[in-house]
Parts: sequence; structure tokens; C-alpha cells
Amino acid sequence: MAVELKSREHIREIRKAGRIVAACHRAISKSIAPGVTTLEIDRFVERFMLERGAKPAQKGYKGYPYATCASLNDVACHGFPDVAPLESGDIVTIDMVADLDGWLADSAWTYSIGKTTAATEKLLRVSKQAMLAGVKMAVPGNYIGDIGYAVQRKAEREGFQVVSKFVGHGIGRSMHEFPQVDHHGPAGQGVKLEDGMVITIEPIVTTGRADVFIAQDGWTAKTVDGGWSAQFEHTIAVTKDGPIVLTRWD
Ligand code: MF3
Ligand code: CO
Repeated sequence: MAVELKSREHIREIRKAGRIVAACHRAISKSIAPGVTTLEIDRFVERFMLERGAKPAQKGYKGYPYATCASLNDVACHGFPDVAPLESGDIVTIDMVADLDGWLADSAWTYSIGKTTAATEKLLRVSKQAMLAGVKMAVPGNYIGDIGYAVQRKAEREGFQVVSKFVGHGIGRSMHEFPQVDHHGPAGQGVKLEDGMVITIEPIVTTGRADVFIAQDGWTAKTVDGGWSAQFEHTIAVTKDGPIVLTRWD
């Protein structure tokens, strides 16, 4: 399969979608607190995108029923938003994709609610650093495997595991394009990165074993051992001037 390379103009379009996603995350980061529900956040995101002429691309994707995924504590990803108020000490990953004029951008972020423990703060810090270690490797001439290697190394050095069942992906006019971006494995392997590739890097990092199961609803992926997990995801353009994070906000 061939990688679809994006022109500078295409990257600008994806960045516009990325700015909408980034603005959603910024707003969530300011308002999320004990008592807020993930269904309220989902409604906010859907309205925010629609008001800006974008669509929440996850809604209806393979039958997924919401604008966002909201993955609480031991949920690794693809959790459903719901009416349960967030509680102090929880962590929740909000994942969303904006489609603006047919160009898509994808970003997930894990938020801590109220008071958290040092162990939880470490999980969040390392998960984000692992993602950013992958982003650094997203330069022309490197290989897809260099990204996964850097992510896994960072996570495991700090005593965490990467959930290998879920991967990053090319993105552009479709949510999931070639190539697949593993967050683990040997360096120097797989597709060679080129100027104009747009990919996501989105490792799920967990405190316990890396195994997950899918719940009755057909979507919610939970860790088998109940370990908590975090996920930070950006959409990134690989360019000869270095990686450009198209969903940056923090
Ligand atoms: N944003 C997710 C991804 O990284 C998509 C989740 S699946 C969906 O690929 F059904 F919610 F869209
Ligand atoms: Co993604």
C-alpha cells in the first residue's frame, strides 16, 4: 500500500481541523472538575465543532454513537460518554476527531480530576512524554519503527506498559490511512518516513499488564487487570523542517 503524501496546502487544511480539536481540549482542560459528566463534555464538543463548520468524525464511524470517546480509569480507550459525574481522583481520556471540509484531525488527552495521587500524576506525565518521544522521531528518513521504539522505551523505563492492541495511523481525508503506527517494537523497521506524511501518535500507557478486553457494548476496551491507563494523541505532519504538531494547544 502506498502512503498518500500531503502537500503544504493539504497540511494547512488538516491544521485548521486540528485547531478546532485543540480548542476543544483547551476548553475541556479549563472546565473539567468533579461533578462534570462525560456526556456534557461530549455535547459540548459536538456543538463546538458544528458551530465552527466542522463535524465530529467519530460519530457514526463504524456505528460509534458519540462525538467523543471518554475512557475512565481502567478503560484503555473507546469508552462511551455517560451521565456519571466525574469524581475527584479519576482520570479520563477524551478522544475526538474533527472533519473540516473533508480534512480530519485527531487528538486524545487524559485529564485528572480534582486531587490525584503521585502515582497517577506519574502515569500521565510518562504517557505524555512517551508520545512526545515518538513525535521527535517523526522526521523524514527515519522509520515508523523508530517512533514505536522511542515510545515503548520511555514507557517501560518508567515501569509502565504500552497497550499494543491499539495503534496510530495515517490521517487526512479519512480517519485511518496507511501506514499503521505501532507504539512498540524494534527501531529501524517498517515504512520510511517522508516529507508530507501526516500521522497520529497515540500510545495507551498502563500501570499494569498491557492486555485489554472489549466490554459487552462492543467498544469499551478495559485493561484485564484493572490497571489504569492514559493516552495522549496528536496529529503530526512529517516535514523536512521537522515534525509539526497539528493539534497542539497546551
Ligand atoms: N480517535 C480514534 C483513533 O485514534 C478513533 C476512535 S474509534 C471511533 O483512531 F469509533 F470512536 F471513532
Ligand atoms: Co487516532
